[in-house]
Formats: sequence, C-alpha cells, structure tokens
Amino acid sequence: MPFDYHEAFSRNLGWVTQTEQEILRNKRIAIAGMGGVGGSHLLTLTRLGIGEFNLADFDRFELANFNRQAGANTANLGRNKLDVMIEMAQAINPDLRLGQFPAGVDGHNLDAFLDGVDLYVDSLDFFAIDIRRAVFAACYAKGIPAITAAPLGMGAAVLCFFPGQMSFDEYFLLEGQPREEQALRFMLGLAPNPQQLAYLADASRVDLEAGKGPSTPMACELCAGFAGTYALKILLARGAVPAAPRGIHFDAYRNRLVTTWRPWGNANPIQRLGLAIARRRIKSGLTVAAGDRQPHARPIERILNLARWAPSGDNDQPWRFELVDDHHVRIHGRDTRAWCVYDLDGTSSQLALGALLETLRIAATAEGMRAEHALDPDAPEHSPLIDVRLRPDDSLTPDALLPFITARATQRKPFSSRPLSDRQKLALEQAVGGGFSVRWIEGSAGRRQMAKLLFHNAHIRLATPEAYRVHRQNIEWGVQFSERHIPEGALGVDVATRRIMRWALQSWSRVQFLNRFLAGTWLPRLQMDWRTGLGCAAHFVIVADKPLLTIEDYLAAGGAMQRFWLEATRRGLQLQPEMTPLIFSRYVAQSRTFTSIAAEQSLAETLAGQLAQLLGDSGNTLQRVYMGRVGFGPAPQSRSVRPPLETLFINSPGK
Ligand SMILES: Cc1cc2nc3c(=O)[nH]c(=O)nc-3n(C[C@H](O)[C@H](O)[C@H](O)COP(=O)(O)O)c2cc1C
Repeated sequence: MPFDYHEAFSRNLGWVTQTEQEILRNKRIAIAGMGGVGGSHLLTLTRLGIGEFNLADFDRFELANFNRQAGANTANLGRNKLDVMIEMAQAINPDLRLGQFPAGVDGHNLDAFLDGVDLYVDSLDFFAIDIRRAVFAACYAKGIPAITAAPLGMGAAVLCFFPGQMSFDEYFLLEGQPREEQALRFMLGLAPNPQQLAYLADASRVDLEAGKGPSTPMACELCAGFAGTYALKILLARGAVPAAPRGIHFDAYRNRLVTTWRPWGNANPIQRLGLAIARRRIKSGLTVAAGDRQPHARPIERILNLARWAPSGDNDQPWRFELVDDHHVRIHGRDTRAWCVYDLDGTSSQLALGALLETLRIAATAEGMRAEHALDPDAPEHSPLIDVRLRPDDSLTPDALLPFITARATQRKPFSSRPLSDRQKLALEQAVGGGFSVRWIEGSAGRRQMAKLLFHNAHIRLATPEAYRVHRQNIEWGVQFSERHIPEGALGVDVATRRIMRWALQSWSRVQFLNRFLAGTWLPRLQMDWRTGLGCAAHFVIVADKPLLTIEDYLAAGGAMQRFWLEATRRGLQLQPEMTPLIFSRYVAQSRTFTSIAAEQSLAETLAGQLAQLLGDSGNTLQRVYMGRVGFGPAPQSRSVRPPLETLFINSPGK
C-alpha cells in the first residue's frame, strides 16, 4: 500500500484539527543528538506528523546505549546513530524532508543547522555543555524557541527558552565554571527540586568528572512525551508553555509533579543553597566511587579489590594484605578483643576473617582461579596469619554470588514484615553449606518475643562503660559513607536521635546523665531494637552442627555467614546482624564478667535464659554462629564502605 500522510497521521485528528496537522507537516524541528532522548524525540515528533527535521549526530551505537536509546539494538551495533534514526523515522514517514549533519553540530555549522528551523529540541549528551550553550545562544539570537527535556532518574524535567525572555546562559550561569560544577549547575537548574536523588540507589554510578551518569528508558520516553506536547503547543500557538525561569519536573517514581520558579536562575539564593547541598552529597558519593574505580591490571589485585568488601564487626576490617607473588597473598589478621567487648576471644574478628576468605574465594572464580587457604599454626591467636594461594582452574565458572559482593550491606532500618516464601528460606538454608543450619524465628508472635528480648538486651549496650568505649569510636558523624567505621546515616535512627546520641557519646558522664534523668536509652532502643525487631520478615540464627572451638571453626562459620548474606542480597532481601545477644549470653555461659555494672551483668544472665528458651537450643552457645534479621525493603542510602585497596597492603606490591 502506498504511503499516505493524511491516513498515516489521521488518528492525531481530534486532538489537532486537520488544518493544524497540515501546519505541523510544514514545520522544521532541529534535533541535535540521536541518542537517549534524541531518538525518542525524533520518533515521537515524526508520529506527530512533523514533516521536516534538521538532525545531527556523529556517534555510533554501542552496547552501553541499549538501556535507553531508541535505535540501539544488536542489529545496529556499531552503526551510525544518525543513519539508523533516519531509517527508522523514514519508515514511519517516507516523505520526511531532512537536513543531515553527520559530523554533529559545532561552532561552524550552527547557522546551517538552524536554518529555516521553527523549533530546536535539545538532545545533546548531558555533559556536552559547551556546544549546548552555543546552540541555545544561536537559537536565542535567531529567534528560535528551544526546549530541553532532561531524563532524570525515572522522570523528566523540562525547561523552555523563548526569544526575548530569560536566556540559557542567564539562567544556568555556566560561564567560566569547571566541568564538574557546570554539570551540577545544569542538573540543578533543570531540576531545582532534585526529587530523583531520593531514590538514587548507588551514588557511585554518578561520575560528574568523567561525564557519566545512570539513566533509564522510562525517563527518555517521558521526555519525548513532554517535548512533543510542548512542540505542538509552541508550533500551533496553542497557549502558554512554561519558560525559564519557570520549569516543570514530573517524577513517575515519586508520583510527583513539581513546577518550579527560580527568578535569576542559578543565582537565586534558594538555588545557591541547593547547589551547596548537592555538591556535598555528590562529593560523598564520589568518594565511594573513587575507591572502586581504580583499574587493577593484575588478577590478584582485582580479586583482593572485591574481597575487601567483606563485612566485619563495626566495619573494623581486621586484616591487611601482604602480596607475596601473583598467586600468593598472606593475610595478616588482628583481633580487637583487647578493647572491644563484642569481640569475645577474638571470635567476631575471626568470623569477619572467614567472610573475607569466602569473599576472596568467590572473587577468584571471576578470574578462573581456585583460592585455597592455610592458617599458620605458629602465629599468635590474636593475630592470625593466613596464606591464600590462587591456582588457575579451567573447570571453574564464576560463582553465582559474585555480582553481589559490593551490593551486600547492612540495613539497620525496619523492613517490611512480609514473610519469606519457602523457596527463599530454602535458598538461604542451602547457602550456609554443610556443617551449618538455619533456625528461623518468625510469625508475629516470634518477632514480638525477639523484639522484646532485643529491646532489653540493648539496655546493656547503652548503659555499660565497656560498650560505650566501643561506640564512641565506631560511629563516624556527619557522613553518608564511612571507610573505616559506621556512618551516622547507617545507624537507622532519625535525625533528632542521632543528635542526642552524638552529644551523649562525647563522654561517659553525659551518657549516665541522659540515662538517669532523661530516660536516654528509650529513644534509641525503640528505634534500633524494638521497631526493627518487629519490622522484618524473620529473625534467624545460623547454627553449627558442633561447637565452634578453633580459629578454623570460626573461619568456616564466617564463610557460612557471608554466603547466607550474599544469597539474601541476591534474593533482594535486606539484612542486619543482631550479634550482641549471642555475645552476652556466651559471656554468661562461661561465667565471665564483661561489665563493671552488676545490674547489667545480671540482666544479661536473665536474657541468656530467655534466648535459650526462644531458640530452643538449651543454651548451646558455642554452636550459635550468627544471628540477625532479614526482610524486604530498600537498600541503605548510607553505608559503610572500604578504604582503597592500596591502603590495605602492608608491603608495596610490585608492578
Ligand atoms: C561478625 C559481625 C558482627 C556484626 N554485628 C552487628 C550487629 O550486632 N549489629 C549491626 O547492626 N551490625 C553488625 N554487623 C555489621 C557490621 O557493622 C557491618 O558489616 C560493617 O559495618 C560493614 O558494613 P556493610 O555490611 O554495610 O558493608 C556485624 C558484622 C559482622 C561481620
């Protein structure tokens, strides 16, 4: 059947009149950039019946474009974006009249690019700031309205610039700024209310310096919807479209439409404040990224770079690496029993070392290597020495838990109380491997009993000087990410409680004052123990088949703990360890005094009995490996990270 413009676009009629459709057919829109938004813009505007385009792009399709770019697919890999998109648009309307700019737009072809153009729709790469400024300036000078629709998270933020009104440069104030600051100003100018940041799941993926950021296909489609609508209104003089300094930002994820008005653009005082906050936030995100983006040429370094993400009590990371050769690393452990009441006989540190070895083993499978370890029998118990040897093994396939090593994190906020399915429980039970099993405490009665026990147990944590000594140094205040401690934001309590805790932890006498006169333990205990004790799918205890007696036993138990945790991450579950009831009850079982406060020691004795009853294990403390809670919920926004690998070597590894 021959192509017929009127028939092809007849279903637009009703929302536009026949005359208006004819007007659109004779309009020319310039689109610079055929990537994420540009491709969607072109296809949407073509279907709207726009008859003429000037199109520019010099780039080719690559795999990393597949998540969002209209023309990106396996058939078009390596092909010119402009050619592909023209093919796709002409397949919709073969009568299109096109101006093609295969070298992209630059200072030299701007006049030709904007020649005879009724509207410019911006689709340049987010970070192509210089050329964007030049195009907008040229549009302004030539009296061409211009639209920019930015895909932000799972939403779209739209700004229009009309001749005679506020210009792009006046609004964004980018002149003379460094590249990173320009990107920030552009982002915040587009979205003065950056609602998308609330659900940024991995800040390390934002790299303003390298000009890279995360994107979604939904946002590109929303942008095309906005830009097509505004194009229609502008080209048909159908009524008001917000123009800078007014903007509009719809976020589908947040279910929110925000209209913004920022007289003086980025010079607006509210905007300047927003910029300062965004700078701080993105900087802390970049710190995470920096540690992780170090390119490591040698397999052993890549393996250790992943292994360092193993969890440890209070993020203490009781290990350093000695690189012996490309297939041999010696791990120097050191436990914290001398000052940390929670590191009873160094067993928490040994669990963490076990998690490190297991993470290393999993990471080695990515390099086709089998990791085997041997504990040095002559090393002192408090500073174990472990030799790990890597052997190439062709039969190895990457471990299924490999992709979850860096994503695994401690979430201390309440989870949903939706129970785990039998399949999920089975997967977790299988993850711990031979020699270990999982005991579940679930259902509303089980969770309530456990929450009560945790609530009372927390009193010991908050009212003993021995625990205070640990807490005063294991929290890093005022940060979202902490390389060697737990960041304030990951504590799982509200801002007011954090303030009180920060004040109180300055001295033991403040803690005592707060506890005695202001019921100081209540607020944190309600939030950190009671609410979370109820707010989960289940509590669990990983139990060993026989009592854990040697360091090797604890290393194996740490491996089981880490596999369980990684499997939970793989299943989209959040997890928080709840180790202190286990630790205090072990002190009690061994008749050891762990605190100078007699009332707290006797509280621990009472709770030890209750825990044994709840677990039904007659106080078999030496078989309990690891206790915690799991459940569904968002990943933590604030978390412990790790220092760069380079700082963890005790020798300087030769290149
Ligand atoms: C042996 C061990 C015991 C832990 N005990 C607790 C605990 O009782 N409560 C808690 O909130 N987190 C606990 N954690 C979690 C650590 O604080 C956390 O793993 C560490 O800060 C690193 O953070 P990440 O898990 O988010 O990477 C424990 C971790 C390990 C390995």
